[in-house]
Amino acid sequence: MKRPVRIAITGAAGSISNSLIFRIAAGDMLGPDQPVILQLIERPEAMEALRGVAMELEDCAFPLVHAVRLHDNAEDGFSKVHFALLVGAKPRGKGMERKDLLEANAEIFSVQGRALNDHANPDVKVLVVGNPANTNALIASRNAPGLSPSQFTAMSRLDHNRAKGSLANHIGANPADVTRVAVWGNHSATQYPDIRNAEAFGEPVMPNLDAKWISETFIPRVQQRGAEIIAARGQSSAASAANGAIDHMRDWVKGTPDGDFVSMCIPSDGSYGVAKGIVYSFPVRCRFGRYQIVQNLPIDDDAKQRMKATEQELLEEKAAVEHLLPAATEEAQ
Ligand code: NAD
Ligand code: LMR
Repeated sequence: MKRPVRIAITGAAGSISNSLIFRIAAGDMLGPDQPVILQLIERPEAMEALRGVAMELEDCAFPLVHAVRLHDNAEDGFSKVHFALLVGAKPRGKGMERKDLLEANAEIFSVQGRALNDHANPDVKVLVVGNPANTNALIASRNAPGLSPSQFTAMSRLDHNRAKGSLANHIGANPADVTRVAVWGNHSATQYPDIRNAEAFGEPVMPNLDAKWISETFIPRVQQRGAEIIAARGQSSAASAANGAIDHMRDWVKGTPDGDFVSMCIPSDGSYGVAKGIVYSFPVRCRFGRYQIVQNLPIDDDAKQRMKATEQELLEEKAAVEHLLPAATEEAQ
């Protein structure tokens, strides 16, 4: 049996965590042979609810769960962790855009960045789920000068899966047979879900798709899916968000399938002309616990315009929280 790894989850008594924690405990993220120590973090006011989560975990008797620790602060909660899933944040309600949450959540991610810097395992892999996820990841990373910016990622995997699911449904394929989907930019309504290189059963899908369906149905549907779910459920996506987080971490650690790629929000290195210093969703391949941007995908004028629009939004978000960003190291600029 392997040695247990430590996994921190913030917002551990919230809706997403209610799926996420139990799937991690069951081995869905790191595999059925990887024991885990769960370090669950909540606001002091939510500790009683978190005790309820811990009771349910005990009642599942998961063999992989070596210990469950409950914390009401990030400093203790991130102690020695190998993985940190930053879910805790204020979610948006009906009619709000994700950027409305910028100020409300920026402070949380500064504190957590500093706590990760000071207390986490130096190789910690961080996934930010709490919105606005890309800019929160940037804030956390910039407050953790002792860690590499590449250790901080944000989630566009839900958007990636939404794009794959919607395309598969449209062409009558199983999602597993659809590959080479990409999501560019911000986890927001400006994101660009890109199926120009997508394949089904190894064949390009574009020749069989109507351009009008792509621009008027597919792209807006994926961009607005979060809002559509809030309107229907009265609260934001939870099980599918947890599933996206599991997929993101699993592929980062265990690698992406040959011939396919996934989407992750990562610090831009300037690839595809995207400004450095923002956390932007790119198509990536993962191997040996590292990710690499898929290079040389063809970019036409329409794609270029869409990629620029979402880049512009991220630059504006960054400008709005500039006062919370300590000076960048050369690597983070
Ligand atoms: P929720 O309100 O059900 O749960 C959030 C939890 O976070 C609450 O229990 C709250 O007490 C806790 N929390 C708040 N501040 C905290 C802090 N500083 N430290 C620790 N815990 C803290 O919300 P949810 O539905 O679970 O969503 C969580 C976040 O994820 C929201 O920001 C939501 O918008 C976002 N989200 C992102 C994606 C994505 O694809 N990136 C998808 C869905 C939801
Ligand atoms: C989502 O995409 O479902 C989440 O980001 C929640 C939201 O605010 O849209």
